[in-house]
Amino acid sequence: MNKRKTIFDTTLRDGEQTPGVSLTNEQKLKIARQLDKLGVDVLEAGFPISSMGERQNVRAIASEGLRLDVCGLARVLPKDLDACIDCGVDMIHTFVSTSDIQRIHTIKKSREEVVTMAVDAVERIKEHGVKCMFSAMDATRTDLDYLLEIFKAVENAGCDIINVPDTVGVMSPSGMYTLVRNVYNGVNIPIDVHCHNDFGIAVANSLMAVEAGASQVQCTINGIGERAGNANLAEVVMSLHSIYGAKTDINTEYLLETSKMVENYTGIHIPPNTPIVGDNAFAHESGIHTHGVLEQSDTFEPGIMTPEMVGHKRRIVIGKHAGRHAVKKSLGDMDIETTDEQLDEILSRVKDIANKGKRICDADLHAVASTVLGRN
Ligand code: KIV
Ligand code: ZN
Repeated sequence: MNKRKTIFDTTLRDGEQTPGVSLTNEQKLKIARQLDKLGVDVLEAGFPISSMGERQNVRAIASEGLRLDVCGLARVLPKDLDACIDCGVDMIHTFVSTSDIQRIHTIKKSREEVVTMAVDAVERIKEHGVKCMFSAMDATRTDLDYLLEIFKAVENAGCDIINVPDTVGVMSPSGMYTLVRNVYNGVNIPIDVHCHNDFGIAVANSLMAVEAGASQVQCTINGIGERAGNANLAEVVMSLHSIYGAKTDINTEYLLETSKMVENYTGIHIPPNTPIVGDNAFAHESGIHTHGVLEQSDTFEPGIMTPEMVGHKRRIVIGKHAGRHAVKKSLGDMDIETTDEQLDEILSRVKDIANKGKRICDADLHAVASTVLGRN
């Protein structure tokens, strides 16, 4: 496997298509700057033909002078392509439905017409000296021979990179591997993947596509996007780095900060057990785990990924599953020293409180310790 992979972020395009999400222009600019700091290679800023406001926003992001490539989305229609060109983007991502189900029921074009439209679009983009990515929308439900035919046609027209979207998130990981491997063997330009998360396997499918030869992955921050969302950037990147030993330009120490920004602006809250950036991703409560982690962190953490790598912190939680080591450590952090008997008494009182269904914060622990130590 070629170890260097590029990351295409579509938080501001597919991510903003999350039902109920609408970002202001100022928020989009701030996210764009944050994604630049995070180190993504390409940022899909929006779909310029969709509205005047969207066009102004894509133009504003394209003129920010960011290090990354700014991309605009366009159907294979001249007016969409011209709207992108007008925004001054570095790359145009042009797409058309290739599966029979979408082709017949939405765009109502023959297979031949679709190939011609795709080739014309790529030629128009390349005439303007802009980088071009072509997506065969619904590729995972498209007849394979036809998919290879259209990919080959756009390659011959000068396309820089092709995208294999799992538009409705129905592909299995092994199916994704086989599909991308077939495409990899059939074309001579880089392959990108765009996986939706309808069955919760967008990240697994993206990684299988990489194993099969894809060199670029499309992701969003916090996995937001149409319906159940897209492949989560933090999960894809940390898996690539830590499990596969691959490299990207992502500065992983900004992953948590970026996740919080997008959570805040979109109002889409992430559950505490979210991998990598969730509040509990590096939190430990049970006695056996905290004892192990306090002794040597990788006893009950992956080790190949630490909280520091992603801008997070390890947390020891005092609750009904807590043990002596955790309570002792937490008291030590508060400069409270105890005898063994006092520690046992504090632990027993803490468990009594937790068993009543209450959460124990530092202030509660401090209060219990003060009572036991007779400081009140
Ligand atoms: O899911 C999809 O197929 C898309 C395309 C525009 C690539 O978002
Ligand atoms: Zn999509």
